[in-house]
Amino acid sequence: MVTDYSDKNTALGALYPAHVDELRARHDHALDNAGASHVVIFSGCPKTVFLDDNPYPFKANAHFLSWVPLTALPLSYIVYTAGEAPRLIYYLPRDYWHSVPDQPAGYWPDQFDIRVVHSPEDVAKHLPNDRDKCIIIGEIDDDAHAFGIERVNPTSAINILHFARGIKTEYEIACMRLASQRGALGHVAAEAAFRDGAPEFEIHRAFCKAVSHTDNELPYGNIVALNAHGAVLHYTELERQKPQHIHSFLLDAGAQVHGYASDITRTYSFNDVRFAELVERMNTAQLEIVAKIKPGVDYSELHVETHRMLAAVLVDAGLATGDPDTLLTTGVTTAFFPHGLGHLLGIQVHDVGGFMENESGATIDPPSGHPFLRLTRKLEENMVLTIEPGIYVIDMLLENLRGTDAERHVVWNSVNWLRPFGGVRIEDDVRVSATGCENLTRDAFAAL
Ligand code: GLY
Ligand code: MN
Ligand code: MN
Repeated sequence: MVTDYSDKNTALGALYPAHVDELRARHDHALDNAGASHVVIFSGCPKTVFLDDNPYPFKANAHFLSWVPLTALPLSYIVYTAGEAPRLIYYLPRDYWHSVPDQPAGYWPDQFDIRVVHSPEDVAKHLPNDRDKCIIIGEIDDDAHAFGIERVNPTSAINILHFARGIKTEYEIACMRLASQRGALGHVAAEAAFRDGAPEFEIHRAFCKAVSHTDNELPYGNIVALNAHGAVLHYTELERQKPQHIHSFLLDAGAQVHGYASDITRTYSFNDVRFAELVERMNTAQLEIVAKIKPGVDYSELHVETHRMLAAVLVDAGLATGDPDTLLTTGVTTAFFPHGLGHLLGIQVHDVGGFMENESGATIDPPSGHPFLRLTRKLEENMVLTIEPGIYVIDMLLENLRGTDAERHVVWNSVNWLRPFGGVRIEDDVRVSATGCENLTRDAFAAL
């Protein structure tokens, strides 16, 4: 198992030049559409807490990260001019209070004309002189960071880049395979901690240790949910005490490699046979959904189809009665499964462009009654996305069914049985292939 993600172990360097070529082509097109000659991409500026001198964790601009695997390089810039090698203005402060970035090294510097600067003022001389022909992409909350460039984040360029990011390059897919392997390592360690009876906080530490991430390096806040906490969709408390009785464990946690994320959920029964059966039934349903992934699939339709499949899971588990269409139209499935089937994945965990119909910025709404679906595009080869069906006891949603046609379709005693377990979610990351899909998550677990 690879745990060193440098080129020496990963051969990413062999794939990286073609990735940069693809980015150049995408940016040529974006520049052309925006009527500009140069695109300047700002990595970002650390933010300081109000009335304090401590910074918030730094998160680099995803546009910057798409070019270079530099997740911790504030106040730096990519400059790209059509037909020329991209320039990287690499800010290396002279600072004895903090650690400073390393000198550029690894598989990526060969692709850039690198200008190391030691002070932010030195950036200006490495930018194109014709600032009126530039656009800048990044979070510019201080004009000083734009160096006189007035066209900030024009949608005429951004929409093209966001739409294109839905399709991953071979290099990106390789990074995401590694991120999946890294995440799987964490899941195995976390499950072992759970089996040992550890509280959420300790399980979280076991995960972080196994993936070698600090909290700030995780692609998103770990969801480490024992028992009923599994029903809180974005539960990010980390209970320090172990619960009196351990029933279940839902872990939604990923890792990143060179800025690319994995997003993985597994659910476990501690020792309850009925809950273990529900988890297994959900696992089978999740794999059936994954088996439907291929180019041309309408993800919104698959989401609605998932509701019908989960209706069958609810019936099999004794939680509901009725045929799938009735359970869908009366709102029973939505009360148990109130989130989307999944989303695009990449540099951002909920990657950009999930609603985009085309590069002009037109969007596709989620189906009516399903506002939380984050991916409405037709699937294309080399999209990477998640498949994450779930069933939960969320009382505020289930109570809404009282007094409606749905009420008699819910087996309330079974809801009472499931409540202490929270719920079950199984989440894999898949790449759409020419004829089906590659399951990055299952492959990663299988390779451990
Ligand atoms: N981890 C957040 C999500 O699954 O979308
Ligand atoms: Mn997800
Ligand atoms: Mn997740």
